[in-house]
Amino acid sequence: MTPAPAAGADRTIIIGAGQAGLQVAVELRQAGYAGAVTLVGDEAAQPYHRPPLSKAYLTSEKSLDALQMRGQAFYSEQAITFLPGLAATGIDRAARQVILADGTVLPYDHLVLATGAAARPLSCPGHDLDGVMTLRSLDDATALKARLATARHLVVVGGGFIGLEAAASARKLGVAVSVLEMQDRLMARAVGPDVSQHFAAVHRDHGVDLRLGQGIAEVLGDSPGEARRAIAVRTTAGDTIPADLVLAGIGVTPNTALALSTGLPISNGIVVDEAQRTGDSHIHALGDVCAFPAPHGAGLIRLESVQNAVDQAKVVAAGIIGRPARYQSVPWFWSDQYDLKLQMVGLSQGHDAVIERGSRDENRFSVFYMKAGRLIAIDSINRPADHMRGRKLLAHGAAPVGADEIDTLFAARRD
Ligand code: FAD
Ligand code: APR
Repeated sequence: MTPAPAAGADRTIIIGAGQAGLQVAVELRQAGYAGAVTLVGDEAAQPYHRPPLSKAYLTSEKSLDALQMRGQAFYSEQAITFLPGLAATGIDRAARQVILADGTVLPYDHLVLATGAAARPLSCPGHDLDGVMTLRSLDDATALKARLATARHLVVVGGGFIGLEAAASARKLGVAVSVLEMQDRLMARAVGPDVSQHFAAVHRDHGVDLRLGQGIAEVLGDSPGEARRAIAVRTTAGDTIPADLVLAGIGVTPNTALALSTGLPISNGIVVDEAQRTGDSHIHALGDVCAFPAPHGAGLIRLESVQNAVDQAKVVAAGIIGRPARYQSVPWFWSDQYDLKLQMVGLSQGHDAVIERGSRDENRFSVFYMKAGRLIAIDSINRPADHMRGRKLLAHGAAPVGADEIDTLFAARRD
């Protein structure tokens, strides 16, 4: 049990009770931080895991309880003051105070911005019809799940992670699915073309009507009136597809408004240095909302992953307790679609060669991305050993791996 903070002790306020925000609170207590910790979240629910929202929660394989990150007792046991359902609406940096939606003013010594990202909504005509949805929060997922129970035809806009996971879940539930992806391949932001091609084939095998190179032009509604419902979409190729449910999975935008309003530098995210510090020495930012220096001096990047949120939380906590650390983790990510577990490690952008091992026919293969003869990233499909090995071999400070070492270092030997 963590003792209650002494009067006059250091005060840390964390804005955003998601993956990153809660993890900062956890790390602070684990590091022995004795100050006051307040976690402010604008959602009503206790901090929960988002990844199942498009996967096992949607198909009812995972319950609401299983989504909770920590049990009820955790917050009092750890002396973390959790304020749910309350947005932070202002920051007074000069006075070091946070203003909450109910008018409460909270003073801080350390402020952590972990406000995450928001799903981009559609902007085409008909975007506001009943049956047009996005998927980011528990409330979104619960509403989508309820709709899927009676839906006949789901049109997913966006062939990225959210769209494809939701498409796979909907197919499992027996709903007809069309996917519109404006690029010529799936998940282009994160995986290489071979992996995109494989997933396109698998989705089509599961009956998904996949349309690459097409976006959405309009959502068509039933007869004009108060609560018009979506009945079809018109694609940018001029096709009309029936749709009583439309899900936009067209990416996210970082929740930077609060940081912007208090004058912190923003560049596709709250700008931080390698220690997660903003331009204000009392304020850290992390997770989906922050733009941080990419490894090897390649400018600022923003990552949207559990790994990034969790690992950056360690760095933020270290900074608050006065032992600044540098964020140097190798990025990794996963996505579950049907019986495929896709795991990615490293950043494959800029690769100049690929090596593939395993069997596409058996849905078990890895693609190794090389740059100037060195391994920079791996996408694995149902080959978790390759992924785990890659996390070690691509870690900061590990010796570079050459093309001639792939077969000896990875699971190919076991095929
Ligand atoms: P969030 O988890 O979004 O938390 C931010 C919180 O801050 C939210 O609760 C938000 O409402 C709150 N907030 C915002 N503004 C304010 C304010 N002014 N006051 C108070 N509170 C505020 N990642 C993976 O690695 N693997 C996956 O398979 C995967 N699947 C995913 C599936 C879905 C459906 C979604 C939505 C995400 C998935 N992710 C996955 C991404 C992962 O969940 C995010 O990268 C992670 O949640 C980021 O954590 P965060 O704390 O930065 O942001
Ligand atoms: N029409 C069709 N496709 C579109 C359109 C459009 N108007 N606009 C964007 N897209 C496509 C993009 O080309 C991209 O392939 O939508 C896809 C969005 O994919 P992601 O960037 O992966 O975003 P999303 O799937 O929404 O996931 C958001 O949630 O799973 C987490 O953290 C993960 O970053 C991810 C986040």
